[in-house]
Amino acid sequence: MIQINSVASYLPKKIVTNDDLSKTLDTSHEWIYTRTGISSRHIAADDEFASDLALNAAKTALKKSNLDPKDLDAIIVTTITSDRRFPSVACKVQGKLGANKAFALDVNAACAGFIYGLAVADSMMKSMNLRNVLLIGSETLTKFVDWTDRSTCVLFGDGAGAFVLQNSTDNSRGIIATKLYSNGHEEKYNYLLAHSSLQKVDKNYVTMVGRSVFKYAIEYMAMSMTEILEENNMSIDDIDWIIPHQANKRILESMCKMKNFPIEKVIITTDTHANTSSASIPLALDDAITNRTVKKGDTLLFTALGAGLTWGSAIVRL
Ligand code: UT7
Repeated sequence: MIQINSVASYLPKKIVTNDDLSKTLDTSHEWIYTRTGISSRHIAADDEFASDLALNAAKTALKKSNLDPKDLDAIIVTTITSDRRFPSVACKVQGKLGANKAFALDVNAACAGFIYGLAVADSMMKSMNLRNVLLIGSETLTKFVDWTDRSTCVLFGDGAGAFVLQNSTDNSRGIIATKLYSNGHEEKYNYLLAHSSLQKVDKNYVTMVGRSVFKYAIEYMAMSMTEILEENNMSIDDIDWIIPHQANKRILESMCKMKNFPIEKVIITTDTHANTSSASIPLALDDAITNRTVKKGDTLLFTALGAGLTWGSAIVRL
């Protein structure tokens, strides 16, 4: 099975609270916190890009796995905020790490990116017989928000999370299943006419119809979790922790209510991370491992929805 050997993350130093935002925007901590569960977010420096965040998370993950960059067979980065339009963030990380044996590619599935990346890594590792793969979610969405638009800018934060994945003959732990979905008819609800972080175009901002995305997120994440559990003859009782994309705490509460899933099983980091797009799942997992909530051997259910629309779920035994 393909196993998660180590988990690591990196958050930029600068922290911006809701109170900080309310000094320049017509908003309040009360509004932001009650609508989203967000109190603060980390924001990348002007000269800090997705590849820099990814590199930091990658180095820690390799250290935790006692691996040298030269042991890597591939580097997969999930991002929608690459430094440049091309080459990929993954290639940049590969070069900076000196991972000479590894090939590198980016995956773009917006906020569902990490689930997509996990599915891509799982199948490539099996079909190409790869031993060690670095999967990184790295995002700097705060470089693409309109800081005068209170309905979007308060929602996002920056960060990166990384997994070292290893191909193992031990079948007691690892990626049990992944399930992906897309619906391009719904692209109008959330998009970015992007250029790149390094060369921005005027009014190149994230656009989102919040209420519509909110409803889709609840319904589609709930549906994909139910389907993946059923297809694998499992129920929510077999799951120790749900680790969802962290867009909005209310979405997670409604999603659980819809399926009668216990909210106590959900890892929630919206409070201090905000929405870090495809980085949010590995960031949340690293946080939960660090504070000893999630332990080796636990069965995890990942789920996410993002622009596209894209969504999906994965079941992993840690
Ligand atoms: O990552 C995947 C993609 N994204 C998501 O999953 C996010 C999904 N959507 C959401 O999380 C929520 O829809 C939001 C948090 C974005 C918005 O919450 P809402 O309860 O849907 O609020 P709303 O957009 O319906 O706005 C309600 C009111 C409006 O005022 P009026 O028109 O009722 O007078 C907004 O102008 O709140 C106003 N508003 C604000 N007020 C204070 C919007 N943003 C703010 C703000 N501070 N920051």
